[in-house]
Amino acid sequence: MEQVIGSYVTLKRAGSNFNGLCPFHSEKTPSFTVFPNTQSFYCFGCSAGGDVISFIMRAEHLDYVAAVELLAARAGIEIPKDGKAPAEGEVSRQRVFDMNRAAASFFHQCLMDPAIGGDAMRYLSEQRRLSRATIRHFGLGFAPPSFGMLTDHMKRLGYTEQELITGFLCGKSQKTGRAYDYFRNRVMFPIIDTAGRVIAFGGRVMDDSKPKYLNSSDTPAFKKSRNLFALNFARTHCEEFMILCEGYMDVIALHAAGFENAVATLGTAITAEQARIFAKYTKKVIISYDSDEAGQRAASRAMQMLGEVGIDVRVLQMSGAKDPDEYIKTYGADRFRRLLGQSRTGFRYKLDGILAKYDITQPEGRIAASGECCQLISEFYSGVEREVYIGQVSELLNISTDVLGHRVEQLLKKRVREAKEAESRRAQADIRGVGDRINPDTVKNVRASAAESVVLGLLMIYDEYRNAVATGKVVLREEDFFTAFGRRAFATIMELQATPGGYSPSLLGQTFSPDEMGRLQQMERQRRSLTHNGPEVFRQSVDTLKEEKARSDGQKSEDVISDITSILARKGQKQTDKPTGGK
Ligand code: UTP
Ligand code: MN
Repeated sequence: MEQVIGSYVTLKRAGSNFNGLCPFHSEKTPSFTVFPNTQSFYCFGCSAGGDVISFIMRAEHLDYVAAVELLAARAGIEIPKDGKAPAEGEVSRQRVFDMNRAAASFFHQCLMDPAIGGDAMRYLSEQRRLSRATIRHFGLGFAPPSFGMLTDHMKRLGYTEQELITGFLCGKSQKTGRAYDYFRNRVMFPIIDTAGRVIAFGGRVMDDSKPKYLNSSDTPAFKKSRNLFALNFARTHCEEFMILCEGYMDVIALHAAGFENAVATLGTAITAEQARIFAKYTKKVIISYDSDEAGQRAASRAMQMLGEVGIDVRVLQMSGAKDPDEYIKTYGADRFRRLLGQSRTGFRYKLDGILAKYDITQPEGRIAASGECCQLISEFYSGVEREVYIGQVSELLNISTDVLGHRVEQLLKKRVREAKEAESRRAQADIRGVGDRINPDTVKNVRASAAESVVLGLLMIYDEYRNAVATGKVVLREEDFFTAFGRRAFATIMELQATPGGYSPSLLGQTFSPDEMGRLQQMERQRRSLTHNGPEVFRQSVDTLKEEKARSDGQKSEDVISDITSILARKGQKQTDKPTGGK
């Protein structure tokens, strides 16, 4: 446990446990703890928690099966590939990888065949000026303008229509239900993960028709939000920094020009998961988005996301071209390298934005600009940074550092006060369960929810209690639980208990997301921290659950009664005595 986690987090021994900086949120003081005794981890800062499998799921962005495979591979254990056959209608990840690879090679061959891919090849090499070597390096291809060429080819290789549809290589005809080629008459960009597997495709039209790009949707083997285009190449060129661009074509042009540390998101704004991927590979990212307004807005957001995971973020400013691809074509790689060198910090980028808005040769302009600058500077938590920035602004606007410093100080105090208030509001809301994403029902009945977490915590720890429930010695049913999350947790625990292998906490990871695992872990930890977990505690909480259930059922029938009464009243009928029985 600590060896595996220790390869991601620097751990320090603290008594019988280990502490470190949490890899799942950015923090300065360690609140991430590994408990070797219970083979679990928990972060007191962000409530991430679980066993080693949930750790790997989170850290490597994998699903349960892939995380187990990875751990097994690390330990040198081989898992029989046909160990667990996918359920009917389900397609295994490996099957999707295999079919994608076959499709990528089909597309590539189509591109190379002048009779089929002549126009596409001319488009790529003449219009987009890609060399043969680059086309081969990225495995680019061409999807012919036919409804069945790929489908037929894949069927001959043994893939079923259902598999092809699941893998997003085929669409499904509304009328006949039959499969047809999803990508048609497009140049194809295979998306390859760091393990070298083809996980998805993007396909671009060769004219101005819409949509410009068609992308695979999420499949069992692929999540857009967790991958980056060209990371398979960039991962070995990113010690110093990485370049983040918007488009596939930008990345390809950059790699071809020698910037092999460029990657792009897959047609979406950058996600927190992608920000963490960057943090795993590098310390510094230079954002080179399109120079238009949309690109610049997206850059602001990317700056924030990357800043949050502790990356040193720079922003590149380009003029005379709309994107890196065009820039390199027009001005060459050396000029682009110079731009990289001149990329600005987040502060400078925002400062320039403010200065551009005002005429600082006029007093009014200077006053307004200085106000915004102070606001911006007050957002930095490090005193050194604030001082440096105050110095810069003072020179630019010709206002004394004292005056600026005083204003920044005021704003900072206000900000700290507001943050504290927000924090205490959040803490109170937490206690009441408001805004609880994982278990939103908690707020509706605090007593029932508390009892529920005691019962679940005990069930997760003690075989006796699970047995008592399974054998009916203690009567407890799914519907006795108050929250939907509680019902699901209970049902899952008892289902596992009934399997031949019995219950094991790590199996919960198959059903629950890492966040949900964190919550379950929290319930379990709470019980473990108490010495008193005897049968009477269990009984009492079960009783509380049932009492609350009876009470809310009672309330529901009262609600029905009052509904009926009000309906009768509204209809203007003469109100008789309240109905007494059912209905
Ligand atoms: P761009 O329009 O900037 O694409 O969109 P590009 O890569 O520079 O393409 P060229 O130079 O016009 O050929 C940026 C990215 O947004 C996604 C793609 O990932 C694209 O690379 N996108 C764009 C889509 O997913 N669908 C679209 O219709 C357009
Ligand atoms: Mn472009």
